[in-house]
Amino acid sequence: MEGKRKVIIDCDPGIDDSLALLLALKSSELEVKGITVVCGNVPTKQGVENTLKVLELTNSLHIPVYFGEENPLIRELVTAQDTHGEDGVGQCFFSKVQGGIVRNGAVDFIIESLGTEDKLSIIALGPLTNLAKALMRDKEVFNNLDELVSMGGSFRSHGNCSPVAEFNYWVDPHGADYVYKNLKKKVHMVGLDVTRKIVLTPNILELINRLGGEVAKYIIDITKFYVDFHWKQEGIIGCVINDPLAVAYFIDRSLCSGFSSYTEVVKDGIAMGQTIVDVEDFWKKQHNSVVLQEVDASKFMYMFLQRLFPESAEVIANIKGVI
Ligand code: BDR
Ligand code: CA
Repeated sequence: MEGKRKVIIDCDPGIDDSLALLLALKSSELEVKGITVVCGNVPTKQGVENTLKVLELTNSLHIPVYFGEENPLIRELVTAQDTHGEDGVGQCFFSKVQGGIVRNGAVDFIIESLGTEDKLSIIALGPLTNLAKALMRDKEVFNNLDELVSMGGSFRSHGNCSPVAEFNYWVDPHGADYVYKNLKKKVHMVGLDVTRKIVLTPNILELINRLGGEVAKYIIDITKFYVDFHWKQEGIIGCVINDPLAVAYFIDRSLCSGFSSYTEVVKDGIAMGQTIVDVEDFWKKQHNSVVLQEVDASKFMYMFLQRLFPESAEVIANIKGVI
């Protein structure tokens, strides 16, 4: 496994989380040590089921999956089943996966892994509740963390569940705030400014359909509901897929650019969940984040499709006017 970067993926699958997991599991640069599930898009139990489905699809059922927190630190859980479907994967209601390694104790797993693994990173695709709990329990062990990449927040972009707040940080603003304030490393904030530009358009979905096979069918099936939601909610034809960008950025820094800053998460009131990025350095506080602002969406999309469909990589490379 030399040369691979070791990661834990903390997620709340979720349609776009499922696509992010597909990308991670099909990326040879990564060694996924475990997947920890947190409540968010769906209750944790459902998120575990949805994770197993992706592991089955990618022949990765040897990777352990951990049940994480079932509620945000303080707020009551508000899921996004209106966006992702009651089952979190677009009302597909897949049959239960047989096999897999499912364990309790996501928070313990994170702490133990940081204590034993050299250069371990975390890619967080959901609310930061599991990470906040782990950090509260053992701040020291986080000195061993290589990097934290978190899909969440926004800088100049508007919110997606309030005028100013992004879903992951809005669901658990206290968890997010705790992580930003207490982690001694900068959080790589992959927020809505960049993820909003990652859209599976009808053309791209048709391309996926034509590439064919099990993975293509899965993507087409789980995104149908998501596409309908985007049309009704935002007047967009296609769907925004946020989470895979966090995985792609972790692998290839040239996809996004941004800046270092101090960031704070609003914990209550009408701006709950908003990330306040002190880009002008008014507060003179130690920077705790790398805030991403620009993305090469087309480069991302080629990477995403070529990794998910390696057998069609050349066909994809030669496609013009679709991606
Ligand atoms: C985030 O919220 C969730 O619905 C998605 O899975 C993504 O992680 C986008 O705001
Ligand atoms: Ca997510």
